[in-house]
Amino acid sequence: MAIDRIVNTTAAASDDDVAEQELEITLRPHDFDNYIGQERLKKNLKLAIRAATKRGEPIDHVLLYGPPGLGKTTMATVIANEMGAQIRVTSGPAIERAGDLASLLTNLQDGDILFIDEIHRLHRSVEEVLYSAMEDFKLDIMLGKGPSARSLRLDLPKFTIIGATTRTGALAAPLRDRFGIIHRLEFYEPDEIRKIIKRAAGILKVKIDDPAAGLLAQRARLTPRIANRLLKRVRDYADVNGDGIIDTDLAHKALGLLEIDELGLDPADRLILNVIMEHHNGGPVGVETLAALTSEERSTIEDFYEPYLMQIGLLERTPRGRKVTLRAWQHMGKKPTSTQPSLL
Ligand SMILES: Nc1ncnc2c1ncn2[C@@H]1O[C@H](COP(=O)(O)OP(=O)(O)OP(=O)(O)O)[C@@H](O)[C@H]1O
Ligand SMILES: [Mg+2]
Repeated sequence: MAIDRIVNTTAAASDDDVAEQELEITLRPHDFDNYIGQERLKKNLKLAIRAATKRGEPIDHVLLYGPPGLGKTTMATVIANEMGAQIRVTSGPAIERAGDLASLLTNLQDGDILFIDEIHRLHRSVEEVLYSAMEDFKLDIMLGKGPSARSLRLDLPKFTIIGATTRTGALAAPLRDRFGIIHRLEFYEPDEIRKIIKRAAGILKVKIDDPAAGLLAQRARLTPRIANRLLKRVRDYADVNGDGIIDTDLAHKALGLLEIDELGLDPADRLILNVIMEHHNGGPVGVETLAALTSEERSTIEDFYEPYLMQIGLLERTPRGRKVTLRAWQHMGKKPTSTQPSLL
């Protein structure tokens, strides 16, 4: 479903969101210095880049995973810039046949980076061709069919694959094993989000005072993409209802209008918690049932809602399904009926 949600962390997909995509590009940091947070990842990458540069080789293949909007695509472009490399961007579902991959790879030059977004969605046949390409920089292609078929081995340039995925679990082990650097992007600290907001405000020439930046940072789901979106929406509010300057009072009002609460939850998050509480007395409830009751896709629940709700301790995944925590009951101002086994 395509409702315009402020906390929707997926990259803009619908065409009314061209402005949104432009915003992302404008705000995208280009080097390590401007990429705030993810210190451990940056440290590892800097080392890998320095070593590779010294050897005059491209860096190892890199796999970045984690919830949407945390900066995977951004980091891929930062790596390319820091390496002085050319980056080509594609995605798992876009590479339909082995031949598509072959033409992508044979068009690369030494040192190029191929960024494959949603790499968990690569077709099986494509994935298999990628194995030897990643490992030995060779391309095995089959010519012809049946008894007369023969295989041909082509040399490829020395390239780097940067793969991004919201779910590593969905990645085949042989593919995963071919990445030398595998890193999970973590949710950001509120203070890092505050810096990201200040940086974005500087670029967009938005006037926001420190306490207001802090307030937005508390409600941005610890996610840069949402921080930037909130800033933009609150700026709109300030332009219409104020003098364009964002202070805490104005930020409070704007967030109220957007129905974003103190934990950064919006009505859709609260619906999920409510459904588990009201229909299942706090859970556990299977994710399919939850999807049906909230009219959300299962994958949206798993990739987008759950990571944050779990991060802030409102939701738990158990083998029998999803369960809300005591903190969630408190946050929602509700009480379980006394038969709730998990809380007895
Ligand atoms: N560390 C960071 N510092 C500053 N801004 C950031 C950082 N990480 C991400 N951003 C901002 O957040 C936006 C979203 O980041 P990005 O598109 O890289 O996320 P993603 O992890 O690739 O998400 P998806 O899984 O949806 O593809 C970027 O446009 C960028 O402006
Ligand atoms: Mg991305």
